[in-house]
Amino acid sequence: MSRKQKASTQAAEPTAPSGAFVIHPYLKNERPENGRSPEAALAEAEGLTLAIGLKPVASWLVPVTAPTPATYIGGGKVAEAADLCAEINPAVVIFDGPLSPVQQRNLEKKMKAKVIDRTGLILEIFGDRARTREGTLQVELAHLTYQRSRLVRSWTHLERQRGGFGFLGGPGESQIETDRRLIGERISRIKAELKEVVRTRALHRTARRRVPFPIIALVGYTNAGKSTLFNALTRAEVLAEDMLFATLDPTMRALKLPGGRRAVLSDTVGFISDLPTQLVAAFRSTLEEVMEADVVLHVRDISHPDSEAQRIDVEDVLGSLGFEDERLDQVIEVWNKVDLLNPDDAAAARQRSSRSVGGQGPIAVSALTGEGLDTLKALVERRLRSDEDAVKIVVPAGDGQGLAWAYANTAVLARRDLADGRVELKLSVPADRVDLVRNRFGKRRPEGVPKTPRHRHRKLAD
Ligand code: GTP
Repeated sequence: MSRKQKASTQAAEPTAPSGAFVIHPYLKNERPENGRSPEAALAEAEGLTLAIGLKPVASWLVPVTAPTPATYIGGGKVAEAADLCAEINPAVVIFDGPLSPVQQRNLEKKMKAKVIDRTGLILEIFGDRARTREGTLQVELAHLTYQRSRLVRSWTHLERQRGGFGFLGGPGESQIETDRRLIGERISRIKAELKEVVRTRALHRTARRRVPFPIIALVGYTNAGKSTLFNALTRAEVLAEDMLFATLDPTMRALKLPGGRRAVLSDTVGFISDLPTQLVAAFRSTLEEVMEADVVLHVRDISHPDSEAQRIDVEDVLGSLGFEDERLDQVIEVWNKVDLLNPDDAAAARQRSSRSVGGQGPIAVSALTGEGLDTLKALVERRLRSDEDAVKIVVPAGDGQGLAWAYANTAVLARRDLADGRVELKLSVPADRVDLVRNRFGKRRPEGVPKTPRHRHRKLAD
């Protein structure tokens, strides 16, 4: 291993295994699809390792001509890696590529350490960060499916987890079968539970549709600062409407916009490049909210050296979920962590942002210091307004509840108190929710038309 290949190596405690040894293999003769250089890909893997609370104690870029069936990287490289493992004694080796169960088992044997591949790593991250019951179940399901697929031959790993049986020739086939059966049963239980959770969520969505709130969704690469922004935007007020969703779904909260409009802010799970197939399904259901959103905010960590590649990853995921180009163009980019930029870059970002108000460009913010949040809210409001229709309704005299409903759930543009106690309101309502508002107050009857129109009697008599 040359010094250049070894990005960093710090001696770890020789006794207790600790930290992670990150290996990024790359195909020498192929350009990576996501445009990341091998160095940037290794840095990303280190970042993801940190994201699950493991310190990368060594990292290594390994050029590969063609993956070998036995260990992916060649025998000489495996021996080198094994030597380093013996020296630094990592708790886990993170192999930032796709490993077959056989390759994983062989690497574990040779390196005498637990090895996880990229899918395993990403599953760990998602498991760690899932915030809803549904998210937790989806990730667990993906994890079990992944585990079951590796069970046939990667028994060494499971055996070690259990403390090892140590009988000659390794555990019998029956142990593997028991494991398969147990995993199969757990998978069935999770699927049943998921069905129930999804049904409840559908009910919530229906309940939410009864109020004409527009939905604003946050998407972004993992660690971009979505949750911090979510909290910063909604911190100021805990609204009564929160009860509607927040108790059951912590990723939804009511948001009050400067002009008095209310919206629902929806946080989503962080995106990642090369998303494992097992997780795409989990994403699909979580991202239904995004597909339905009136405004999508793409939160970017603008201070991250890989920010541009992360942007492409996020847009790719959105595209694979069925987001059309036309909608992608309407996504508002939020350049977060502007406080971490050097003064020149920060000034350039702020200047670009100041030109964006009212247009399509990005908005520079810091979820941490609060910079730019008012501008962002104003832009969201303007965007919503352009998609709204003005609706005139007349609230009957004495219908205080109806009046309160209109104020709580729509933006009131004008009010006229009529002499007979009725109140005429001009409201701004998302175009697709106009019917909902009209139905709440009934269609406006032209003056002088009685409650039960005569033609109705005629119809009955027919
Ligand atoms: P996932 O849950 O993985 O999707 O992450 P996320 O996008 O929700 O990121 P999160 O809000 O957890 O923030 C990640 C880290 O960035 C945290 O340590 C935050 O404190 C930090 N952070 C978020 N916004 C800012 C910001 O504007 N400035 C600075 N300096 N740090 C920020």
